[in-house]
Amino acid sequence: MIDGGNRLEGEVVISGAKNSALPIIASTILNSNQVEITNCPDIHDVSIMFDILETLGCKVHKDKSSVRIDASNLNGFEIPENLMHEMRSSVIIVGAMLGRMKKCVFTYPGGCEIGARPINIHLEGFKQLGVSIVETQGKITCECEKLFGADITLDFPSVGATENLMLASCLADGITYIRNVAREPEIKDLQDFLNEMGAKIVGAGSNTIVVNGVKELHEASHTVIPDRIEAGTYLCMAVATRGNVLLKNVIPEHLASTIHKLRQIGAKVETKKDMISIRMINEILPVNIKTMPYPGFPTDMQSQFASLLTVSSGTSIIVETIFENRFKYVNELIRMGANITIEGRSAIIQGVEKLNGANVEMRDLRGGAGLVIAGLMASGTSEISGISFLERGYENFIKKLQLIGAKINKK
Ligand code: EPU
Repeated sequence: MIDGGNRLEGEVVISGAKNSALPIIASTILNSNQVEITNCPDIHDVSIMFDILETLGCKVHKDKSSVRIDASNLNGFEIPENLMHEMRSSVIIVGAMLGRMKKCVFTYPGGCEIGARPINIHLEGFKQLGVSIVETQGKITCECEKLFGADITLDFPSVGATENLMLASCLADGITYIRNVAREPEIKDLQDFLNEMGAKIVGAGSNTIVVNGVKELHEASHTVIPDRIEAGTYLCMAVATRGNVLLKNVIPEHLASTIHKLRQIGAKVETKKDMISIRMINEILPVNIKTMPYPGFPTDMQSQFASLLTVSSGTSIIVETIFENRFKYVNELIRMGANITIEGRSAIIQGVEKLNGANVEMRDLRGGAGLVIAGLMASGTSEISGISFLERGYENFIKKLQLIGAKINKK
């Protein structure tokens, strides 16, 4: 339940990045020694990843925001179907399992329904590393005697495929080149963690990653980078309420394209080493946005900006180029009074004077965050159902918002 119209003011400490923590946790499977991960967000998706590891025989010891994982007794090959269905990034386990066990049995992953989300690029890469892939009755079996270094070019810079191939090639025989890779900061965080465990990987952040296979990995400890999408979401919330908010524990460089758009819509944004402050006084100006792989504008920030732009002083166009089904929140915004037309992969948003509180429903994680932004801006009360989506990816979402003055409660 949100009572709209309250100005947000104060400090928010940003948690560890969901999309870094997930592949990092998966990659501990590669290591038969104990590892420690700190700044690990306490969110539902991360707990599903722990469940998968435990089903495969790993020991997981959680302590506040740090976790110790011991994969020495890894004994399973098969990822349970129910866990595979819960979350898209469960597929990252496959690369790690191939690296360590040379075998993995799994079904197609589930997760937020934001597009078809095939895994062909992942599987194509595995094949080039020497993996045989057999699919029967919806089950995929990936297997090999040994993994061999290869020269792989991805059809698209897929984040998940880049990570999966880094994991699979880490312990392979020889050198693997992975070209046309994703350049997201989470890829660099994964490279750093793997190297801290003794892997030999260079190139994350550029177009090509080179993995020099090693025999085994050793104990390590790693701190997950801050969540740039959580940070971007709070920045949008500050703008929505004409607020004044300071974010702590952030890497401003990772939010460059988001900050650029926030400035274009009229926000005053200042950055320091690990902090971002934002202040919004004037009306929201219209902007055009096209989602792109990093360092372009993130698809994960698309719906939050769409909500802001519903009350801008003109017309904005948002083009979604990454996922084909990421406008499901639009009908809900229209119920709140927004004027939005969808044409293929574009949303044309004609600014209206104000949104009105309404009963609306979340259908995915980021679309849900967008609806909360709309609720914070709207006049009156909004009841937003489906908040389990938010719990998948935002740590202490409601508490953090209450601390900066939002009138938000879980019913
Ligand atoms: N794609 C293929 N074939 C593949 C893999 C991807 O066609 O084998 C397509 C996808 O269907 C999509 C595009 O390539 O159209 C990009 O997908 P990508 O693989 O890059 O995305 P992902 O790894 O599934 C991660 C994040 C998403 C984020 C995207 C894009 C994690 C756990 N998830 O997904 O995060 O939107 O990259 O940046 O890292 C979220 O946090 O809410 C979220 C959805």
